[in-house]
Amino acid sequence: MDSIRLHIEKTLDFISRDKVYNYKPDIEKHNKALNEKTGKGNDFLGWVSLPSGITDTEIKDIQETASKLKSNSEVVVVIGIGGSYLGAKAVIDALAHSFSAMMPRKDPYVVFAGQNISEDYLAELQELLKDVNWSVVVISKSGTTTEPAIAFRVLREDLEKKYGRNDAKNRIVAITDASKGALRTLADEEGYKTYIIPDDIGGRFSVLTPVGLVPIAIAGFDIKALIEGARDMELNTSVEVPFEDNQSAIYAAVRNELYKNGKTTEIMVNYNPKLHFVSEWWKQLYGESEGKEEKGIFPASVDFTTDLHSMGQYIQEGLRNIFETVISVQQVNRKVTIPKDETNLDKLNYLAGKPFDHVNKMAELGTLLAHVDGGVPNIRIEIPAINEFYLGQLMYFFEKACGISGYVLGVNPFDQPGVEAYKKNMFALLEKPGFEEETKKIKSRV
Ligand code: PA5
Repeated sequence: MDSIRLHIEKTLDFISRDKVYNYKPDIEKHNKALNEKTGKGNDFLGWVSLPSGITDTEIKDIQETASKLKSNSEVVVVIGIGGSYLGAKAVIDALAHSFSAMMPRKDPYVVFAGQNISEDYLAELQELLKDVNWSVVVISKSGTTTEPAIAFRVLREDLEKKYGRNDAKNRIVAITDASKGALRTLADEEGYKTYIIPDDIGGRFSVLTPVGLVPIAIAGFDIKALIEGARDMELNTSVEVPFEDNQSAIYAAVRNELYKNGKTTEIMVNYNPKLHFVSEWWKQLYGESEGKEEKGIFPASVDFTTDLHSMGQYIQEGLRNIFETVISVQQVNRKVTIPKDETNLDKLNYLAGKPFDHVNKMAELGTLLAHVDGGVPNIRIEIPAINEFYLGQLMYFFEKACGISGYVLGVNPFDQPGVEAYKKNMFALLEKPGFEEETKKIKSRV
């Protein structure tokens, strides 16, 4: 199998290769700390050796659960938010037919809930579910997150009304902590099929646990190949690999050097809308891991060429604090050729016989050069094709680079203390028992 490849040449008008390579001793030390679990947040490092640790028995069990739901459901609702949502959504969207909702399918249509609190969204989902056979996979490590918990309460009631409480139990899979949290208590009491999210793996690093694997398998994709891709990258970014050959290490070094030089926003770019949610997953990974102690690169994303017609102006000529990281897909999976038109009224015959992707690639190259000329350094990550193996490589590559990069920045990349502030205010405003003092205080401010 080929591999994803990192290209940093188009950053070197802005930072020097020597400065990047100066990170070598520090980054090798940080990689070792991740491996030996001696750095900050060392109780959340289970993801480092996760790909090589997954057993065939675990994979088989997940595949069996997926087969069961595939056999009785046209729609599977995956309930979760943040790290309990974005990994599965990223992989499924990248691999699924762009119009899968409207296409004949052999596997269930996977939809998501609990990733927002929109009443319209949930009501419309309920409407969809009325006339189909469906099941639920509910995912929450803490088992207490409000968004998925209230969505599950609503959908569980619907499921029980439709199938009766006993049959509904066979249509619910819960993925949560081994012993803590309301979801664990409920799952044990009701006897749902459950999977455990290991204690030492945080949400945003959990795509290769049942959190990601169960929904991805239900959607009909090859979780073994995904894990194999990640295993390959685990090996190629391990402590045995010197800095020069470790792509995660180089990516971490380059982005930190750019940050030092005033490039405080990183824009993840794709030229294939299937990768939109890979960027969303990446934004959570880097945003939650690095954005703390008043530090961190702000992770943003765009879908090109679509967003060249909205954000292109800013990227070309706005504030010069940005750099781009492009995920460049080398080989498309399908073919469309531009036809010749005898009248040529649209003056497009110069493209006749060319694949659509050729135009996309020229747009990519032209944009890269224009943006570099405009003062935007460019990192390129080539991915040979969009498939399970390369997505596994890509995701592990980003995870390893994130751990290293957070350590270079000097933060604990594995906590997210800032996420609690909005929750506290929301509970106070909702008058949750136990928040009486906060309720009084907050009401005086609004
Ligand atoms: O990465 C994280 O830790 C968070 O984004 C969580 O995944 C998210 O808040 C959901 O938490 P939970 O799985 O406990 O419901």
